[in-house]
Amino acid sequence: MLKGKNVLLGISGSIAAYKAAILCRELVKQGVHVKVVMTPDASNFITPLTLSTLSKNPVYSQYSDSQTGTWNNHVELAKWADFFLLAPATQNTIAKMANGICDNLLLATYFSMENKTYFAPAMDLDMFKHPANQSNIKRLQSFGNILIPSESGELASGLVGEGRMAEVENIIKAISYTNTLWKGKKVLITAGPTYEAIDPVRFIGNHSSGKMGYALAEKALTKGAEVILISGPTQLTAPSGVKLVQVKSAAEMLHAVRENTADLYICAAAVADYTVANPVNEKIKKKTYSLTIELQPTVDILAEIGAHKKAHQFVVGFALETQNEEENALGKLKRKNCDMIVLNSLRNEGAGFGGDTNQVTIYDKDNMSSTFQLKSKFEVAQDIIDTIERKWLA
Ligand code: CTP
Repeated sequence: MLKGKNVLLGISGSIAAYKAAILCRELVKQGVHVKVVMTPDASNFITPLTLSTLSKNPVYSQYSDSQTGTWNNHVELAKWADFFLLAPATQNTIAKMANGICDNLLLATYFSMENKTYFAPAMDLDMFKHPANQSNIKRLQSFGNILIPSESGELASGLVGEGRMAEVENIIKAISYTNTLWKGKKVLITAGPTYEAIDPVRFIGNHSSGKMGYALAEKALTKGAEVILISGPTQLTAPSGVKLVQVKSAAEMLHAVRENTADLYICAAAVADYTVANPVNEKIKKKTYSLTIELQPTVDILAEIGAHKKAHQFVVGFALETQNEEENALGKLKRKNCDMIVLNSLRNEGAGFGGDTNQVTIYDKDNMSSTFQLKSKFEVAQDIIDTIERKWLA
């Protein structure tokens, strides 16, 4: 998949730079033409000699060679590359890229790129979590750069947590998939609860946090897809780079879905099954007698998508169950004409609404099923997107 591509490997000054040597060797082994550009500080962690030997090309880190006076043309380097892969990407280099600071050859080359840039952050736990760094990462994504997410584990400081550069095999996976399978694919995801108004101050809602749908949007984005996230009311920030459509009610969500077509639909929203038949414009005043509110069914958005599904489209539903889980999930898969359904049972501790974890079983229309362990919603989202990829695209 990567064979024959010209990859500019950018290395900034982090202890994770030692992994860049392995990354460089792997890329070359796969038939990639690699040129390396380093920040001046990166050579404190790994020598240009190692990288030039592995890449079979000169390594660039200064604007000119002081011995020969040769100018290293950053524009030429940028035009040569099919894409720029910055691994490791330090907090400092990310901040400069996000804010237009251009004080070394690597940055000048990045700012001259017309093709894609991937970046794999590497830093310590607290630096990684710092709002300044998080906002710079989001800013870089909003420019169209593709994040290769950091992983959790032991860090050079001895702390354990998020911030470790992605493993070489995951970096290679990220750049391979993005370049082929998901390119040009439009993904529509529904997320969160819906609020059905009773009067101007009250509504009927549910406990959905939207976390599962937002995690799916981030993972689909990382694969290189174009993502439309249609979200009910949540406290979450949408991943930069997705097209966010905010809605309140089931009727608004339905309208937004009808306005957008996609190749892949993932309906993760907890859409109200009933709405208020006659919402009123004035606040309902307290009375001493009982109050009856008439409810009427909403349109089933997933079922409507399934009913109009075209051959090239793939439709994924969710089933939240408390009893007869498998039977109910398979019933929904069939009734709503889905290709895949993700079951979460509220009987499993740590699964379902609100929390940060989930435990799912995925069924497809050929009666295949896979059950996954209890994991963070981000890891579950990765499992779901990887399963979709295998069943739909591979
Ligand atoms: N769904 C939808 N529109 C609705 C109701 C549900 O798109 N009006 C979708 C959900 O996003 C989910 C799937 O249908 O992908 C199943 O939702 P769930 O609440 O589990 O099932 P229901 O069909 O509503 O059935 P029930 O509530 O009886 O279990």
